[in-house]
Amino acid sequence: MLVRLIYVSKLAPNVDHRSIRDILAASQRNNQPRGVSGLLMFNSGFFLQWLEGERRAVNERFARIAQDERHIDPLLLDYQVVVSRQFPNWNMGYLGEGTMNRAAFYEFGASEQFDPYALSGAAAEALMLSMRAQVPLLKTSG
Ligand SMILES: Cc1cc2nc3c(=O)[nH]c(=O)nc-3n(C[C@H](O)[C@H](O)[C@H](O)COP(=O)(O)O)c2cc1C
Repeated sequence: MLVRLIYVSKLAPNVDHRSIRDILAASQRNNQPRGVSGLLMFNSGFFLQWLEGERRAVNERFARIAQDERHIDPLLLDYQVVVSRQFPNWNMGYLGEGTMNRAAFYEFGASEQFDPYALSGAAAEALMLSMRAQVPLLKTSG
């Protein structure tokens, strides 16, 4: 059974945003063998992440990620059984600053306020899907 999970969180205080590089490396290393794919967005101190794959694999990854002290206040926005993947080519795609902007929030969040915690599941899904063409293809080793 394939599922897709979306959550939001905040970079922990005193954690340098350069640590995102390490987070991505670990994501790609761990997601690939578990068949987990998705997209991680980071903007203005907020993370928005899409995880998709087999139900157990996605649940296990999310449980692990939620305990990571490099971010705080993880909030599950949406969890659904799906028929297909939307990010099959990314063991974790990444989009940084500027990609979750006010215009996108106005369009998908129906609000000019930049507050990823206020997104509905459907708005978060639409926002992330609208960015798909911009996600660089990363080579994963192995
Ligand atoms: C915002 C954020 C997103 C993350 N995404 C993933 C992910 O998609 N997959 C994953 O395995 N680990 C992810 N991690 C890292 C995990 O929390 C954990 O540190 C890592 O999987 C441990 O890997 P290791 O045991 O190989 O060191 C993420 C961490 C943060 C803070």
